[in-house]
Amino acid sequence: MAETILVTGATGTVGSEVVKQLLSAKGEDIIVKAAARSANDSTFRDLGVQVVQLDYNKPYTLSSALRDIDKLFLLTPFQSNMVDLTSNLVNEAKNAGVKYIVKQSVLGADAEPSITPSRLHRQAEKVIEESGIPFTFLRPNFFMQNFVTFYSNFIKTQGAFYVPAGDAKASFVDVRDIAAVAVQALSKNGTANHIRKVYDITGGEAISYGQAAEILSKEIGKKVNYVNISDEDARKGMKDMGADEWTINSMIELFGITRAGYLSEISSAVEQVTGNKPITFSQFAREYAIAFK
Ligand SMILES: NC(=O)c1ccc[n+]([C@@H]2O[C@H](COP(=O)([O-])OP(=O)(O)OC[C@H]3O[C@@H](n4cnc5c(N)ncnc54)[C@H](OP(=O)(O)O)[C@@H]3O)[C@@H](O)[C@H]2O)c1
Repeated sequence: MAETILVTGATGTVGSEVVKQLLSAKGEDIIVKAAARSANDSTFRDLGVQVVQLDYNKPYTLSSALRDIDKLFLLTPFQSNMVDLTSNLVNEAKNAGVKYIVKQSVLGADAEPSITPSRLHRQAEKVIEESGIPFTFLRPNFFMQNFVTFYSNFIKTQGAFYVPAGDAKASFVDVRDIAAVAVQALSKNGTANHIRKVYDITGGEAISYGQAAEILSKEIGKKVNYVNISDEDARKGMKDMGADEWTINSMIELFGITRAGYLSEISSAVEQVTGNKPITFSQFAREYAIAFK
């Protein structure tokens, strides 16, 4: 019998890739549903995937979105109430008889020193552990796609991007690799191998933001500079971009542990789970070049 998988955060960076890869998973007897705040969301119009309404701020949408769902890809937006959002969804998932949850978490969720993003993700993981629903946790490092989401406008207009990361190295991961791990775990024959597993998900190399700028320059054929800024300037920049105080403080904490070298760990999870080597930053830069020109 076909299994039905609901993908939350489906319009976002990771979720949209999970939906795409689930749809193209060969030989899988699965039904894929994409959760979006509006049932009329047009993101998936060309993919023919069923869109169901799920708005974390509208509790009445949760139970109907979870009806007849076997497996759940759970992603909450990065915000201060993410543990409550997780709790509400997991409670409803339990009521609905959901059999398995893959949760998008963060690298270092249980590490010390703990910082706000990791602490909240760990609390959300614990909500799932305590629910009794079988689970797998994916703990990715910084996404390579952050260069598109957060820096591409600056790269396009100023040939530079601004981060308070010093010379520290990070093992950036391409979200297509995170999605590939999620798809293996959600697949009909794969789930049993991944229950209660926790995967640190990183790229195959750790590079500094300066090295990232060099690679981008080479791959997109245009000089890109990394400018190492102070926390104070980073705060101002994020404020100008409309970020709230909680997000700004969390990001400053995150860049603090980046500078201290905590995000340079390299994990073998992508290759171990998918059989493929992680996408390199060069490949990412080449394939997303259009976003930076
Ligand atoms: N960026 C990184 O480097 C990084 C690294 C590790 C872990 N993470 C974690 O990854 C997650 C973010 O993933 P992402 O970058 O793929 O997300 P994203 O692109 O920011 O997208 C967020 C998703 O959440 C949905 N959403 C927002 N508010 C919602 C609501 N009230 N109800 C239902 N859905 C809602 C959005 O839908 P709409 O389209 O309707 O807004 C969108 O699909 C966070 O938990 C973050 O901590 C991020």
